[in-house]
Amino acid sequence: MIRCLGPDDLPLLRALWSQGLEQVPEAFLLTPSEMLAITDAQLSAALEAKVYWGAFQDGRLVGFAALRAGGLERLGHTGDVGPLFVDPAWRRRGLGAQILSALQAHAREIGLKQIELTVDRQNKSAFALYLRAGFRIIGIRPRSVLVNGLPRDDVMMLQMLDQPKADGFLHPILQDALQDWG
Ligand SMILES: CC(C)(COP(=O)(O)OP(=O)(O)OC[C@H]1O[C@@H](n2cnc3c(N)ncnc32)[C@H](O)[C@@H]1OP(=O)(O)O)[C@@H](O)C(=O)NCCC(=O)NCCS
Repeated sequence: MIRCLGPDDLPLLRALWSQGLEQVPEAFLLTPSEMLAITDAQLSAALEAKVYWGAFQDGRLVGFAALRAGGLERLGHTGDVGPLFVDPAWRRRGLGAQILSALQAHAREIGLKQIELTVDRQNKSAFALYLRAGFRIIGIRPRSVLVNGLPRDDVMMLQMLDQPKADGFLHPILQDALQDWG
């Protein structure tokens, strides 16, 4: 079952998030101590604001993702997706895709026009998932994060929710720009 997480799910979310941070630190922006520094009050407020969505199996939270909507007035049409994590024991059963699809539906419901994310350049599974879900590459940010002091590149991806899924890997806007620059 996929559903929006609420304040009652806070302990489950923290536990799964900690698991993810330990198992795949490069898939998260926050470090474990930064995650722990988020107070229960702050996390509850985010859960109340419908930021987190989760996949449940037999009553256990086995996957989660977040969608943060714009904030500033001029960014009010945009949202940022991430983190996204599925317990390794439950991967390749469509849960990541289903969580993402719930986020996309929610983004549309709250009137967002586009959603964005960054994915580690080496993270082929997540890249394949996002591509299939309709995200396209808009750029690459070299050495964008240091994980345990080591540089990693991020691929930036975007989906325009009011436009049909584009072909290929690159977002049409990037294809156009590359042609313009000749
Ligand atoms: C990325 C992740 C969330 C995918 O979750 P999942 O539940 O296994 O994904 P799904 O089963 O919904 O897969 C949907 C599609 O994504 C692609 N995909 C997912 N995992 C893949 C893999 N290991 N190799 C290749 N393609 C993969 C496939 O196209 C897949 O469809 P298919 O199974 O019909 O071929 C999961 O592997 C994970 O938690 N990874 C660690 C954390 C992470 O990298 N998060 C993303 C940070 S940006």
